[in-house]
This record gives sequence, C-alpha cells and structure tokens, in this order.
Amino acid sequence: MNDQNRNARRPGLRDSAHFLKSLLSTPHLTGAVAPSGRALARAMAAAAGPPEHGLVVELGPGTGPVTRALFDRGLDPRRLMMVEYNPQFCSLLEERFAPARVVQGDAYDLPRTLAGLAGERVSAFVSSLPLLTRPPGDRDKLLGDAFALMGEGGVFVQFTYGLVSPIPRAILEGRYSAHRGRPILANLPPARVWTYRLEAPAPDPAAPRRRREDRL
Ligand SMILES: C[S@@+](CC[C@H](N)C(=O)[O-])C[C@H]1O[C@@H](n2cnc3c(N)ncnc32)[C@H](O)[C@@H]1O
Repeated sequence: MNDQNRNARRPGLRDSAHFLKSLLSTPHLTGAVAPSGRALARAMAAAAGPPEHGLVVELGPGTGPVTRALFDRGLDPRRLMMVEYNPQFCSLLEERFAPARVVQGDAYDLPRTLAGLAGERVSAFVSSLPLLTRPPGDRDKLLGDAFALMGEGGVFVQFTYGLVSPIPRAILEGRYSAHRGRPILANLPPARVWTYRLEAPAPDPAAPRRRREDRL
C-alpha cells in the first residue's frame, strides 16, 4: 500500500481535530461533534446500493469517513464527485482521495455547484449535510435538484440524528418514497439512515377496467 492509500485508510486524531476546529468556527455548517463512525459510514454506503453506472455525488464529505466506506464497497474513485463547503476539508479530501473529484461549493445550489458535470449521469446522492439547520424549503429544493440530475432509478441517502425523517412528510407526499434504516447505536450520537426515491406514478385506475371492457 503506498503512503497516499495508507493515509486515506487511517482517519484518527487528526480528523477529529480538523472537525472540532470546523465545529467551533462554523457550527451551523458542521452540524456534528465528530466525524461519523464506521458503522454509520458503512450503512450510508450500503444504502447507496451498488450503483453500476453513473456518478455518485457525496454532499458534505467532511474528512471522508463515508467516502472511505464507499470505496470499501468497491466504488471506483473516478465515479465519485464530492461537494464540500469548507476549503480545508476540500484540500484534505483532494490529498486523500484523488482521482475522486472535489468541488468546493454550496450543496444547496446544485445547478450552479455541479454545472461542470456537463450532462454526466448521476445515479446516487449520499448526503451528510446537517439538513435540520436549514428551513424545509431548502431541503425541498435540494431533493428536487438532486432528482432532476438523477431521474428515475436515482437514490438520495441521508443520515440524521433526529427521530423523524429529515425531509418532512409534507415534502415527501405524492413525490418521494422514504425508507427508514435501523438505528445505529454504535455511532455517537446514535443516528439513522434514510433513503429517498422518486415515487412510482400511481397506476391509472381506468387501465384494468379498459382491459376488461376489451375482452367483452
Ligand atoms: C455532519 S458533517 C459530516 C461530515 C462527514 N461526512 C461525516 O460523516 O463525518 C457535515 C459536513 O457538511 C458540510 N457542509 C455543510 N453545509 C454545506 C453546504 N451548504 N455545502 C457543502 N457542504 C456543506 C460541512 O462542512 C461538513 O463537512
């Protein structure tokens, strides 16, 4: 294993120190007291499924625990695009995870932040953003922008320390399906992974009747 790979696999104290510094300077952006633990990172990567094609976009990778878990599940680094606001985290991520791409920018403005994608297909978003620090309207826009890039078959993965879906029910209704993962008690604080997909269109109520009529 070369030095770069060894570094990428050993988070440790240096990451906790980076994280704490970020928490003290921008608490509303950092949104956690420490990087996600391995159990939570693994659950995030597992929820993204095995996307066989297209890009995976990670929102708010921080020091990269979820990134590492995605690679451990076999994701090719060339298929990962990270969006991180904190420039120090961006430098760290570039140093650790090249050739994966890092964009320094605002995850709540995806059309602008990901303008460089130029039509590349995205199959999954994996988000560690502290969504609860933002108003529901921002979360609604984020999900809408993400699915505009993914289309049907896309998946949006998000963890939360909260008890309920970080995307409120009023936003989900009739548009997205939500799957609630089991609580991950090994994480500090305990967390849960939610997975959102575009809701399948309701079946046309006239369709079966038409078929019966056709048979007469
Ligand atoms: C709760 S931390 C999660 C970090 C890491 N993924 C983990 O699980 O340990 C949230 C991360 O989201 C980033 N972040 C917050 N708001 C952001 C925004 N609007 N755009 C991009 N990144 C943002 C923070 O800088 C921080 O790295």
